Amino acid sequence: MSDSDRKDWPRVDRRSPGDRRQKDRRSGVDRRTKAEVAVQGERRTGVDRRAAERRSGEDRRNETEWQPVSIETSSSSSAEAEQALLVAATDARTRAQAAYSHFMVGAALETADGKVIGGCNIENATYGLTLCAERVALVKALSDGHSIFTRIAIVADTPSPTPPCGPCRQLLWEYCGDIDIILGNLNGSTGRFRLSALLPMPFDRRLLG
Ligand code: THU
Repeated sequence: MSDSDRKDWPRVDRRSPGDRRQKDRRSGVDRRTKAEVAVQGERRTGVDRRAAERRSGEDRRNETEWQPVSIETSSSSSAEAEQALLVAATDARTRAQAAYSHFMVGAALETADGKVIGGCNIENATYGLTLCAERVALVKALSDGHSIFTRIAIVADTPSPTPPCGPCRQLLWEYCGDIDIILGNLNGSTGRFRLSALLPMPFDRRLLG
């Protein structure tokens, strides 16, 4: 017995919700659920708010231009080590697997005993599973048994050197501590920052008690 044979049963409306609303719009009946009305209203007010913010100049994204900072080193051996690290990061960058973004990044992580471990970004078709160059270098080093690090160099082909992304800052902080971050591009622009300057209020194991 089908649903329609049962006269006493409420008729099942098998139209898709979209079709149903299409029809209802024609008949002037608003059959959206309360949640749908709220979400659509919120969407509209969100758009209006952003437009208003743009008009009043309150959008603070990209407010300041990123400026590279030149490297001032305390000793010439340190300058040489940083230069060598930048060369290693530039070399690692050539192996980037960046078929989707075409944004190639190289990193070189220096261990306390002077070893240099390179990494490049590795992308895949899901996009979301992308591995940054810094994290590739870090996991390579950790899985090879290294645990104390002094600095990391990061190289990308950008007008100003590219700083590490947020998740990389977090992992570098947890596994390397307050190391020097050496930034470089392919034109020889460089910068050096302490990680604590890039991640000033970190969440880490100290907060877990
Ligand atoms: N990427 C890195 O490898 N390191 C960063 O610090 C920023 C972004 C990579 C991830 C992705 O493959 C591409 O750059 C574009 O975001």
